[in-house]
Amino acid sequence: MSQEDANLEARLEEQETFEPPESFVEQANVSDPGIYEEFEENWPDCWERAADLLSWEEEYDTVLDDDDAPFYEWFTNGRLNASYNCIDRHVEGDRADEVAIEWEGELGETRSYTYNELLEEVEEFAATLRELGVEEDDIVTLYLPMIPELPIAMLACARIGAPHAVVFAGFSADALATRMNAGESEYLVTCDGYYRRGDALDHISKANEGLEGVDHEVSDVVVVDRLGDDLEHDLADNQHDYDDLVAEQAGASVDPVSRDAEDMLFLMYTSGTTGKPKGVKHTTGGYLAYTAWTSHAVLDVEPDDTYWCAADIGWITGHSYIVYGPLALGTTTMMYEGTPDYPEKDRMWELVEKNSVDIFYTAPTAIRAFMKWGEQYPAEHDLSSLRLLGTVGEPINPRAWKWYYKHIGGENCPIVDTWWQTETGGMMITTLPGINEMKPGSAGPPLPGIDARIVDAQGEEISAGEAGYVTINNPWPGMLRTLYNNDERFINEYWSEYSDEEADEWVYFPEDGAKIDEDGFITVLGRVDDVINVSGHRLGTMEIESAVVGVEGIAEAAVVGGDHEVKGEAVYVYAISEDGYETGDELEERVMQGVLDSIGPIAKPEEIIFTPELPKTRSGKIMRRLLENIASGDELGNTSTLRNPEVVDEIAEQVDID
Ligand code: WT7
Repeated sequence: MSQEDANLEARLEEQETFEPPESFVEQANVSDPGIYEEFEENWPDCWERAADLLSWEEEYDTVLDDDDAPFYEWFTNGRLNASYNCIDRHVEGDRADEVAIEWEGELGETRSYTYNELLEEVEEFAATLRELGVEEDDIVTLYLPMIPELPIAMLACARIGAPHAVVFAGFSADALATRMNAGESEYLVTCDGYYRRGDALDHISKANEGLEGVDHEVSDVVVVDRLGDDLEHDLADNQHDYDDLVAEQAGASVDPVSRDAEDMLFLMYTSGTTGKPKGVKHTTGGYLAYTAWTSHAVLDVEPDDTYWCAADIGWITGHSYIVYGPLALGTTTMMYEGTPDYPEKDRMWELVEKNSVDIFYTAPTAIRAFMKWGEQYPAEHDLSSLRLLGTVGEPINPRAWKWYYKHIGGENCPIVDTWWQTETGGMMITTLPGINEMKPGSAGPPLPGIDARIVDAQGEEISAGEAGYVTINNPWPGMLRTLYNNDERFINEYWSEYSDEEADEWVYFPEDGAKIDEDGFITVLGRVDDVINVSGHRLGTMEIESAVVGVEGIAEAAVVGGDHEVKGEAVYVYAISEDGYETGDELEERVMQGVLDSIGPIAKPEEIIFTPELPKTRSGKIMRRLLENIASGDELGNTSTLRNPEVVDEIAEQVDID
């Protein structure tokens, strides 16, 4: 390293605040600091600004109806169609021949769809769904990887008013069955397989196995042929080849159905404290307005941009910021099928250079992996097209933030560290890149119109520097409306901790811990419930636990998250074997398989530790905190309140922390 570089490095390491570059501010979609006050003074009417980004078939009567809080309604009696907003209106405008989706497969093949072509594909698939008998409000399950047919199917569903429920392709057969059962979904769109690190991966067998676990009759399954000759598969009687069906609908025209603003756009299942996934319900008007608004204000998306959110559409990040937000704004959104290190560790940067990407949005876990691989990979490419960078999914440590800033952004791009959740629909806490300074590691202030406060266990606001809990004290258009078929759980999970029901004062509790500084910048510390965050993926420890105790030979188990250099957190399983079962490699293998079968590879345990007992308090509660400390290699702290303190050393000895 030259002396100059070393000096630069040292300066960067110490620098605590960063100003957005002048060149960025000058062109930013939002750059007037007055927006915070404007939103506060005009709340809730300020949200008309978000609704104005959409084309409404019928104007709404009221911005917010809070009569039945916390079952809030937004843009009441407004009517619109999400597929119309994401496609047709851009075709009717001047973007018919501009690229809507730019896709690259892992093996290097590309497909791009102009808005006109996307419209054609979506209409043909919408006609296909109708032909199969899908009616408005039927839930269609999409179990697809990162191929263009996924957003096409989502938009086709939206076009005919059939809510989609996308199940992440990496989830197991069991997970698919659980979700199809929960929504009583009778239609499935899936594919034969996809490519991972050059190998053809069988997906259809997993889908078929999942279908066996569905309790009701599944009327039709549509199978996309992604692998061609690389994977032969048979189709059952109710299974159809995607291309065959679509060919029958060639040139079909399907008018977008008129949907009420509050009609369900989709369901997204996410993990909670109990073993049962929650079906988060998002709506047509509020969700679309909110994702369009945050894409405009935070990601600074403009129609002429090539925008790349390197997430998977199977998670909320992909729904909001690969599909709905960017397409509502008429931009070019990119999709990449594969892994970031295939064939080489510079794949992402090659794609940025090749497509002249303007905006890049990814997760801290990816940034930490890039960092580990080394700065030589981005250095091989011209990344000067980039204007803005974003991160999402978990806290980002200042070192990773600065690496991203320097080696990807060339110290010339603002970074937005966006805190939000599946349930919030879109971003909640983040700097506005054309306005605020940035502090590495801190997401920033709440967005205009969002009343986030950091409080103690009693709900009192805490002082700067102390740790407390995030609460949201007013509703917002992108919020979940309920948990599917479970209003009671909706209230219990999100609205019971800090609300004053008698006074009709409702406070949303996201289950995150945080700190706030003198400038009102919020540093999110992580979940305070039994949910862990592995590589930005949300997993319920209880879901994993029930998979483990379901394994023959396991008597009891506790699953916790432990710190991990790249993944943020990793899964640690502590298990007690049943009498008569040996705790060797074979049992370990079975536990591993049990987790893979019931959830999928994302939940794969980092370590499985067999122990004769679990550390318990005198009242018999498992001391999870202690197990987390062991997994993270942290100080164990006081163990004197345990009923069985001797097991702690025994367990700690077995855990090899790298
Ligand atoms: C949880 C939500 C938001 C889409 C992807 C994850 C954590 C999210 C940040 C951030 C610190 C973050 C929180 C949250 N989280 N973004 N910028 N800084 N933590 O959605 O699967 O619903 O998970 O992710 O703990 O509660 P999700």
